[in-house]
Amino acid sequence: MKSHIPLIVGNWKMNPATLGKARKLFLDTRKEIGRKKLETQIAVAPPFPFLSEMQRLSPSQRIGLAAQDVFFESIGAHTGEVSLPMLKSVGVSSVIVGHSERRAAGETDEEIYKDIQAIFKSGVTAIVCVGEKARDAQGNYFGIVEAQIRSAIRSIPKTKLKQLVIAYEPVWAIGTGNHATAEDVHEMKLFIQKIIADQFGRDAIKKVRVLYGGSVKKKNAHALLAVGQVDGFLIGGASLKPKEFAAIIHIAESHGKGTL
Ligand code: PGA
Repeated sequence: MKSHIPLIVGNWKMNPATLGKARKLFLDTRKEIGRKKLETQIAVAPPFPFLSEMQRLSPSQRIGLAAQDVFFESIGAHTGEVSLPMLKSVGVSSVIVGHSERRAAGETDEEIYKDIQAIFKSGVTAIVCVGEKARDAQGNYFGIVEAQIRSAIRSIPKTKLKQLVIAYEPVWAIGTGNHATAEDVHEMKLFIQKIIADQFGRDAIKKVRVLYGGSVKKKNAHALLAVGQVDGFLIGGASLKPKEFAAIIHIAESHGKGTL
């Protein structure tokens, strides 16, 4: 089956410290990626206060903008929350949902479900994060990932599946330097595709991209794409290093074109 166009998303998390530094990070990232036209889709997810400035720096949307989170209501008395219409108005085209750091801060499967419903209605892409906290010899982690996915994707209309991206991010691999092996990632990708096929039919597999996240670096990127067979990455730490992030993008591009 022809693979998807790679998608590489940088999650800046609560970095960098100031707008000035965010501007520099964005411009350095843009410079390192270079001017050559790429098939690979690229996005970064800066903290909310920096989004509109990043939009101004990338009017062509060559580097797309993602949000790190969202609140499902669209307007009203919800102190501290940010809505989809707000995000869309500053150029956001995809939203990360259910990141393990949000789940650890108390976000529930039910809230994630509501966020996804709102995201689908708004027409932007949902990057839904799933992943186990630890691996056990009995393989219970498959059940954990399955429950997270089934809860998140229940009642998504089949016609809108192109807006769905699943990011497999084992929590033990995030920010630790211990990435999952390419073989394990491949096994999990097939498992995720089976859940998608089960829910929406086999055709759906062509529409839903599966990313991997957790200590992705330029040195492991190729194996994760070639053996892991994921459609791209959600990248934390390495997205704060423009050279490293761009190197991963270029590896994905060569892999997508079959030249690596
Ligand atoms: P990491 O983070 O690349 O720093 O491990 C990944 C993520 O949290 O999405």
